[in-house]
Amino acid sequence: MTRHILSLPRCLGVGLFGLMIGQVFLHAQAQTTSMDSPSSSALPPGIERSAFGQLPDGREVDCYRITNDNGIEMRVINYGGIIVSLKTPDITGRMDDIVLGFDSLDDYLSDTYRQANPYFGALIGRYGNRIAHGRFTLDGETYQLPTNDGPNTLHGGDTGFNQRLWHAQPFSSAEGRGLVLTYTSPDGEQGFPGRLSTRVSYTLTNDNELAIDYRARTTRATPVNLTQHSYFNLQGEGSGTILNHRLMINASAYTPIDETLIPTGEIADVSGTPFDFRQPTAIGARMGQKNTQFAYAKGYDHNFVLSKNPGQADRPTLAAKVVEPQSGRVLELATTEPGLQFYSGNFLDGSLVGQSGRPYTHRSGLALETQHFPDSPNQPNFPSTILKPDETYHSRTVYRFSTTQTPEAASY
Ligand code: GLA
Repeated sequence: MTRHILSLPRCLGVGLFGLMIGQVFLHAQAQTTSMDSPSSSALPPGIERSAFGQLPDGREVDCYRITNDNGIEMRVINYGGIIVSLKTPDITGRMDDIVLGFDSLDDYLSDTYRQANPYFGALIGRYGNRIAHGRFTLDGETYQLPTNDGPNTLHGGDTGFNQRLWHAQPFSSAEGRGLVLTYTSPDGEQGFPGRLSTRVSYTLTNDNELAIDYRARTTRATPVNLTQHSYFNLQGEGSGTILNHRLMINASAYTPIDETLIPTGEIADVSGTPFDFRQPTAIGARMGQKNTQFAYAKGYDHNFVLSKNPGQADRPTLAAKVVEPQSGRVLELATTEPGLQFYSGNFLDGSLVGQSGRPYTHRSGLALETQHFPDSPNQPNFPSTILKPDETYHSRTVYRFSTTQTPEAASY
């Protein structure tokens, strides 16, 4: 059984972005219907591979440089499936790297990085975001995971999918170029039940989209919540805060948190709160307000309950749009997931220096993590994250990169 069943948009009312998503999805389905490990082959045009470094145990890490026909370029490493850079044009055609990241593997392995634990650009699993007290009960059995975020488990535990070496297979097709990454998480890894075969594909299309398909199968029932943890700064990484970025989130509710950032279980209306991003609003506009939620999270670090049209819950629908007024860069995000974690880079403190040589200061990047809601295994009123052996996990998120001449008047 497939947990998320996707189909082509049924009517033109979904707009061009919806149609593009449909096209890309068909392609990705053709690319990734099997859960078997892909075999190695020669590199397709538009994809280059280079050595990125060596893990302490001697295993080599590769970097794949993938470009589309319009010159958009992303670099991905098979350690953590990390997107280390993503270059897109601004309104004048100038290319900048719009994600936070490093040029060397050592920077991702350093003590400073591990202490800060920002998960730059990485694939997150087996369970994105927090599980309260690292504990949950499934089919009458209680599982204890390592806790790595105060009393809770964050992003899969001490050694999540972000720190695993994935098998990488590049591919090219009419729609674009990309990489299929596979990783098999053994039964019991980080305390989770079931051997989880995971397959994630990144497709960079010639429509200037990055489509990410996540698939997984398990041998025993287990919670699964896969996501991607890129931090965006649409002015270019290392160029200051993201507080002037204008953000729209297609959500009329969010899940408030307690002081350890675990949802209270309430699905709260955003109306009249600083969590109402239904109209594009500068991220910094309301962060100075006195608000208990801001006090707990040191800013925005919250799950938004995405608005879905009836009957479209399993199709990628617009989740968020970000516009950066100076560069004119626009990022749109569509997903099949019910939730979106908006994190305003509150834990960045300037101790990490990016590939441009400039420090990643407080709130100099924003993460938009498509997901099921945090702590779902302990929250019976949240959509289930339990994958069973007879099911295939499938989740799809599409990022679209463009520019606007009139950022203030951008139509959302
Ligand atoms: C997610 C969490 C944040 C933080 C970041 C990584 O966004 O919700 O609290 O842990 O990941 O630093």
